[in-house]
Amino acid sequence: MSTYGREISELQHENLEPFPYESRFKRRSSPAERFWNWYAKVYGSVENLSPYKDMLQAVVDLVPESAQSILDAGCGSGALLQKLRRSHPEANLSGIDFSDEMLAKSRKRVPGLNACQGNLNMQLPYPDEKFDCIVCTNALYAVESPQRLMSELLRVTKNSGIVVVSSPKRRARGTKILRRHLTDVSVISGVIDMVRFSTCIIPNVLIERYARDRRYHFLTRDEVENLGGHVSIHADTFAEQNWMFTISKNRIKLRN
Ligand SMILES: C[S@@+](CC[C@H](N)C(=O)[O-])C[C@H]1O[C@@H](n2cnc3c(N)ncnc32)[C@H](O)[C@@H]1O
Repeated sequence: MSTYGREISELQHENLEPFPYESRFKRRSSPAERFWNWYAKVYGSVENLSPYKDMLQAVVDLVPESAQSILDAGCGSGALLQKLRRSHPEANLSGIDFSDEMLAKSRKRVPGLNACQGNLNMQLPYPDEKFDCIVCTNALYAVESPQRLMSELLRVTKNSGIVVVSSPKRRARGTKILRRHLTDVSVISGVIDMVRFSTCIIPNVLIERYARDRRYHFLTRDEVENLGGHVSIHADTFAEQNWMFTISKNRIKLRN
């Protein structure tokens, strides 16, 4: 059942089970975790695309300079955290993701990262109001309920903090991202990059198919505006295939 349009308070912690983070027994990974572990092996060719790099920069530009504690929700292989390490050298960086292959890459890239293997469909393993800023790129669409995740992200954000999100629009198409990349690089680099990217075609076709089936949530503007909290929509990113928005508990003025 869709949860769009409901109040945050109605959703707060509803049906959220604590994740068995400290289980003494090895958990069997879910099909979704296995999918993302498989994608992790070839994700480098996505990171190489110019629209992806531009999107990460646009997110970093929205993170307040004063942010001292930052969480990347669905941090994947850690490309964004690596950029945040450079832009916010003193900040305490945390990343959560359920794919151990993705997390292993994040840990390698970002020394000192507080990396946590956790499921964004469940209650997050952080206390209320822990983070100054939370970033979430291309992960909100993959959870069971974006609105429920947003209420959890807002719970662990400080009252003065913000959540910065980049997430696909309802009609987002990977081919448009590739086309933009090809216009940004030389012909030779373009050919090499397309050969490399061919390993990502299957996961991307599956993601777009799940989005058509509404198993994944590529959002309309209306759905973004009803995610909860105070939503500000910024200029599109990822070759205009993604929404870029910030959400806060209270109406706040961004300094940068
Ligand atoms: C397309 S990748 C994006 C990774 C990174 N944020 C980026 O922009 O490159 C989606 C990430 O979300 C993670 N993810 C998907 N569903 C999740 C869930 N329920 N709990 C935790 N992580 C999840 C996947 O493991 C994967 O690393």
